[in-house]
Amino acid sequence: MFKNKTVTVGISGGIAAYKSAEIVSWLKKNNAEVRVIMTEGACRFITPLTMKTLSGQPVAVDLMSMDPAYNVPHIDLAACDLFLLLPATANILAKAAMGLADDLLSASLLATKAQVIAAPAMHCDMYDNPATQGNLQILAGRGWTLIETEEGVLACGAIGKGRLAGIPKIMQVIEATLNPDKPLAGRRVLITAGPTWEAMDPVRYLGNRSSGKTGYCLAGAARDLGAVVDLVSGPVALDPPPGVNLHRVESALEMARVVTVLYPACNIVIAAAAVADYRPRQAAKEKIKKSSASLNLYLEPNPDILAGLGQNKGERILIGFAAETENLLEEARKKLREKNLDYIVANDVSQPGAGFAGDTNIATIISAQGEEKQFPLMSKKALAMEIWQYVIHNSQFTIHN
Ligand code: CTP
Repeated sequence: MFKNKTVTVGISGGIAAYKSAEIVSWLKKNNAEVRVIMTEGACRFITPLTMKTLSGQPVAVDLMSMDPAYNVPHIDLAACDLFLLLPATANILAKAAMGLADDLLSASLLATKAQVIAAPAMHCDMYDNPATQGNLQILAGRGWTLIETEEGVLACGAIGKGRLAGIPKIMQVIEATLNPDKPLAGRRVLITAGPTWEAMDPVRYLGNRSSGKTGYCLAGAARDLGAVVDLVSGPVALDPPPGVNLHRVESALEMARVVTVLYPACNIVIAAAAVADYRPRQAAKEKIKKSSASLNLYLEPNPDILAGLGQNKGERILIGFAAETENLLEEARKKLREKNLDYIVANDVSQPGAGFAGDTNIATIISAQGEEKQFPLMSKKALAMEIWQYVIHNSQFTIHN
């Protein structure tokens, strides 16, 4: 994944230093060339031997080092594709903001022209201090990527915001930075697509006209943008995009079951399926025979899959669709709110060029913040990429100024 990429990892002196071992090991396993700088403080929390073993390179600590591996250590180490500061203590952030260079790590940070990603970790009171917040702002203004700290129990037992961000989150930011054309790298996307078929008897079903094209295009686009994609598809006549995990289902209940299993691991959900709202109360075991009497079919409601996910959203981004024939935007806003979504894509299926069967669509995306963007008539493939670009741009994957 990171072949030919050089990453300098700067470890400063906080208890979260031990967590950098996992990242260094992961970078190395993914073929990055990793060089580690440790401050004196960091060496007291985790040994240079650990980092040397994991990185496969000598660990640099001393600004005035005579180590023959380096010509001028802070200049050699500053030359990299990515400079990762993990953890970033309040002290190293302050030094970097001021441009101090009194040890190897701060001097290398001052000299680097590479993108810097910093993952701060410190006591919540230090993090909240206006001095630290001011320094973070200065560094963000210089283009650093700052991975926000998490709230939780801190080393001293206090509860607050100051914990190092989760390792998967840090990995995602690194992947997206080293592979900028893959902004969804490291993310798992779950997409529902197509209609559902609700069995009446062994040969008949209730269905709808959804072709699945939009969902399949969204899945292909997400794969191209670097995501791991699970596509849960009702019955459609489409070839799945290569490289996505296809899960074929038939009924709404089956779709709900598969989605429930995949949901915990995913980061983003797009519900593009036209799920049947009702199913026959009981599918007849044998084929229903014709008679001259009228036939009553009793229907019972299916679960609303997306609304169920919205009740247990966590950090995930949820995106729904609203296919309407009247009051398009009001109906879409209502669904956005009621299903606890981040975005909804509204389309008026009665308009020429929009709708289920064709290759084109006309849509408006609405965010939970109330922003709206209209997409004119375009192919479903182009629309899928537009939707992703909008979501990626508007969702705070990383904190930039
Ligand atoms: N959806 C779902 N499960 C359902 C019904 C809908 O996951 N049982 C999802 C769809 O995939 C879509 C969104 O919810 O992303 C809105 O679907 P839509 O059919 O437009 O709305 P409904 O909530 O079913 O309301 P109505 O049919 O009354 O317009």
